[in-house]
Amino acid sequence: MSSVQAFHGSKVVILDFGSQYTQVIARRVRESHVYSEILPYNSTPQTIQATCSRGIILSGGPASVFSTNAPQIDPAIWDLGLPVLGICYGVQLMAFHLGGTVGFSDRHEYGAGHLKVITNSVLFEGLPSNLEVWNSHGDKVTNLPPGFISIGSTENSPFAAIEHKKKRLFGLQFHPEVTHTPLGKNLLENFLYRACGCSPDWTMESFIEQSCREIRSIVGKDKVVLGLSGGVDSSVAATLIHRAIGDQLTCIFVNNGLLRAQEAESVQKIFRDNFQIKLKYVNASERFLGLLKGVTDPEKKRKIIGNAFIRVFEQATQELKAEDLAEGRYRFLAQGTLYPDVIESITIADNPAALIKSHHNVGGLPETIDFELLEPFRQLFKDEVRRVGLKLELPKEIIFRQPFPGPGLAVRILGEITKEHLKILRRADEIIVNEMKVVDWYYKVWQSFAVLLPIRSVGVMGDQRTYENTIVLRIVESQDGMTANWVRIPYEILARISTRIINEVQGVNRVCYDISSKPPSTIEWE
Ligand code: XMP
Repeated sequence: MSSVQAFHGSKVVILDFGSQYTQVIARRVRESHVYSEILPYNSTPQTIQATCSRGIILSGGPASVFSTNAPQIDPAIWDLGLPVLGICYGVQLMAFHLGGTVGFSDRHEYGAGHLKVITNSVLFEGLPSNLEVWNSHGDKVTNLPPGFISIGSTENSPFAAIEHKKKRLFGLQFHPEVTHTPLGKNLLENFLYRACGCSPDWTMESFIEQSCREIRSIVGKDKVVLGLSGGVDSSVAATLIHRAIGDQLTCIFVNNGLLRAQEAESVQKIFRDNFQIKLKYVNASERFLGLLKGVTDPEKKRKIIGNAFIRVFEQATQELKAEDLAEGRYRFLAQGTLYPDVIESITIADNPAALIKSHHNVGGLPETIDFELLEPFRQLFKDEVRRVGLKLELPKEIIFRQPFPGPGLAVRILGEITKEHLKILRRADEIIVNEMKVVDWYYKVWQSFAVLLPIRSVGVMGDQRTYENTIVLRIVESQDGMTANWVRIPYEILARISTRIINEVQGVNRVCYDISSKPPSTIEWE
């Protein structure tokens, strides 16, 4: 496996009952500099103990404790002697298991509420006696289990916050992890620092230091190859691994002919010139464009690009191996796999959070490739990778750049991909990126890009009648690309982008704005 392993500082375990907020809890905990790890709800006490955690958080979840297949917890977990914080479904489960009662309700309490603090608790230290909280639950605790007291109530529940002082068990009916509970971060920090005794030692500096040490010890005298795409994850991975092992790392950058304007040049400049990272640049543009000639079907395009990428990459690694016979072995392939990709997903009936994780694999590599994997970010969320990148002094344009699909501009040219079409799209895309940056909107949205339609329409320029292509402007906001909304961008910005594209890009006489959200549309057009 060869990923950077166990963090040695303070950590807590989050048992996942299928809540859409489980990853949010994990990220909030880490923002407070305590490492968090998500485990499935049915993890054994031994598994939890093996993580050396200082506390346990039970997530919410869509189930009712009354349903026959409600996810349960191993009762021995209550006796591990670790502080436990149950959130929403977590507190109901706590009450249900430890001798209290839970009331079934088909009426959902959803939205903002007020919590009145009833009595002193470590959870409320330094907080006011009235808190705004966010609710999202059906069932609720109706009788406390023995040894518990109520420490906070809301309009709808006398047991909205409960505690067993001696055993350090806590329960919250509301969600402290969401931003609609404004002081939720302080509440969580009180649990982490005061109840669990965690120290705030999870920092990106400590991560960089520890992973460099581990990368050195895993790699030894061998060599690492990394497929650099210019995206955030592979760029930060390259920089981190280079910091650890210097010239034992070689990056391969494949130009598939479907990149944005100046992209190949800028990646080479940043990594080869600024960071002195060994970079093998493979210009396979002609090969990709040749294979795509005459192809119009979107799925076919993706397959061709995906397969060609694998072949080109394999050939490049073979060349590296051949050039390098005397010196040492290329034993590892580094990848920017992130924590959300490795969390075991929990499927609970009717759970809207049980989404399909990765639906695109174009630009990826086959699992059978002849390398051991080196995955330094298996522990990190995306925002943490960005913070690592900032610490490693990568330029902001790389760290905060918008996602760009593996098949590149091919999925933004409808119909056949020709050099002429690519030229038009690159120029239009460049204008959009520039204009979005000038008005400070580029980094506020998920993506903003151009799509070229293979249809022409009539226009008039000067005294001339024109018959040219259409560019669609697509600007969306999104958290993770799974759902997205089109952005209500000010008309002035739309006007400026449209004017510039029509004036400056030869072959375009019309610009349209895409006002479709996902679902039912997708973000890319193909
Ligand atoms: P869709 O078009 O499915 O896109 O709504 C969701 C997000 O994924 C990106 N995307 C891709 N990324 N390889 C990638 O690496 C692909 O084949 C691919 N297709 C779409 C897209 O840009 C958006 O952010």
